[in-house]
Amino acid sequence: MLQAKTNGKVLLSKNALKVLESRYLKRNTFGKVTETPLEMFQRVSKAVAQAELCWGSNTDVKVWEEKFYRMLTALHFLPNSPTLMNAGLSAPQLSACFVLPVEDHLKDIFSSLKLAALVQKSGGGTGFNFSHLRPKNDLLIHTQGQASGPVAFMKIFNTATTYIKQGGKRRGANMGILNIDHPDIEEFICCKRRENAFTNFNISIGIYDHFMNALQVDGDWLLIHPRTGAITKVVKAKHLWNLIIENAWSGGDPGLIFLDTINQFNPTPSLGTIEATNPCGEVPLLPYEACNLGSINVAAFIKQKKFDWPALEQTVILATRFLDNVIEASEFPSLRIKNMVKGNRKIGLGVMGWAEALSKLEIPYDSNHAVETGRTLMRFIAEKSLTASYMLARERGPFTNWQKHASNQHIPVRNATRTCIAPTGTISILANTSSSIEPYFALAYRRQHILEGSTLYESNNTLLEYLKQKHIDPAGVISHIEKTGTLRGMKSIPSSVKALFKTAPEIHPSWHLKHQKAFQEFTDNAVSKTINLPQKAKPSDVHDIYFSAWEMKLKGITIFRLNSRKKQVLDSGIKS
Ligand code: CDP
Repeated sequence: MLQAKTNGKVLLSKNALKVLESRYLKRNTFGKVTETPLEMFQRVSKAVAQAELCWGSNTDVKVWEEKFYRMLTALHFLPNSPTLMNAGLSAPQLSACFVLPVEDHLKDIFSSLKLAALVQKSGGGTGFNFSHLRPKNDLLIHTQGQASGPVAFMKIFNTATTYIKQGGKRRGANMGILNIDHPDIEEFICCKRRENAFTNFNISIGIYDHFMNALQVDGDWLLIHPRTGAITKVVKAKHLWNLIIENAWSGGDPGLIFLDTINQFNPTPSLGTIEATNPCGEVPLLPYEACNLGSINVAAFIKQKKFDWPALEQTVILATRFLDNVIEASEFPSLRIKNMVKGNRKIGLGVMGWAEALSKLEIPYDSNHAVETGRTLMRFIAEKSLTASYMLARERGPFTNWQKHASNQHIPVRNATRTCIAPTGTISILANTSSSIEPYFALAYRRQHILEGSTLYESNNTLLEYLKQKHIDPAGVISHIEKTGTLRGMKSIPSSVKALFKTAPEIHPSWHLKHQKAFQEFTDNAVSKTINLPQKAKPSDVHDIYFSAWEMKLKGITIFRLNSRKKQVLDSGIKS
């Protein structure tokens, strides 16, 4: 077992060490780990600071390297996993998010498949919209054969991912999208119904506003051949909607992405329409674009029940610079991707530790006060990172597509987008905080699959600290949460404490949505958020959530009903 050489500088939890050792730390050709966690942070800081050489002097590099190192080892900010894994190694690919086109020619489909393989091999996730493909059984002019259709081609992408472990370190992830007017939409909506079908894909339906309008008046909806424009079928909008709701209720997929809202905020509309997102939905991208992410541990900025705004501001400014540097420090799997990335320089700065921050502020997640605090926090981060990007543009120049293609950006900025809210699935374990803007999933849980077979056990440290402060004996609490995952039913715990430590399924979905909306308002990209529902939730609840998400002008929505799939990543409670 590795020892964290803390030197008072980095305090890593047991779980963080386990994750680092199994996947992040450099290894030699015999597979033996050859660096400590501190050396990993040094490697990353150094590689990312080297980018300064493109604009400054050698002396600056050392200064920035030290600043980055302090920020990382304080666990105030962590970049997405590929940056931690690959920075400073040979031919490093550092972005987590890619979108690739799928055009209706065999040659193009397989070119994208090849690129997807290269992206996944280097640790990135890929998103595709399959709507340009002609429908199943369509006639192929040259061969007189019949087309296989989007779902069949998606199978090939799914199989390829099974055999290409990301960066040799984790299972690959894909987003598959089909628009609501594609002739094969019914097959697509149901394609994950079978257990173990498309396990390497999240799927989403591309929804237009005019579909939602048709739905509201119980109108007809036309399915359109993507090549010829011919109407292939007329269905009731409600029929497709109900099919979506039923499938999402029974297994979590499909989610929705709202194409009109996404494109309303497309920062470079003359470069093309956005049709897809990365695997977890937080980054809508043009074909061949990539985005590198990083998240601030906001719980670390609560001092005496208040945000330390000046310290947070410094971290936002430094993290924005760090992420802009990552673009220079990264290699890309093709010239086309490299040119798109360098042209728009999208970055995605987000947050983790939101639930923990709220507990420390003594604000229950399911309260207007929490939602307003979220809005204030994200507005602050958005404004400061916009200013930082503007200052970088003065120093390094705006993103090259800015002059010709930028809409709604009146000041020259370095990065076409600055912010997004990622799931922080792994980096929140490293920072030992709650993930993203999610409420606590449970106060003690088993985390499956994360380490390909091994299991992490986690109990909520903030709760235990809080009990200590309030002079409440934690012994009974620990055995209760280890059994049930929640404080519910514990008579000895005051209701004010229970309110601060509610878990996701105890929180009404409307509060999940309000938090998503509050953060989305000040996020250039999108918010990855799963609305966790109790097992007893009904399809009508899923309908209400999906419909409200559109009304609230969110960019996308995903739900998950507890135990609706045999395999799930998180299990409430430790002892079963
Ligand atoms: O915490 P970490 O940086 O590992 O990642 P995350 O915030 O949970 O996910 C951010 C993005 O990384 C996802 O939206 C995907 O684009 C990508 N990802 C992936 O490609 N494969 C995974 N197994 C997990 C995430």
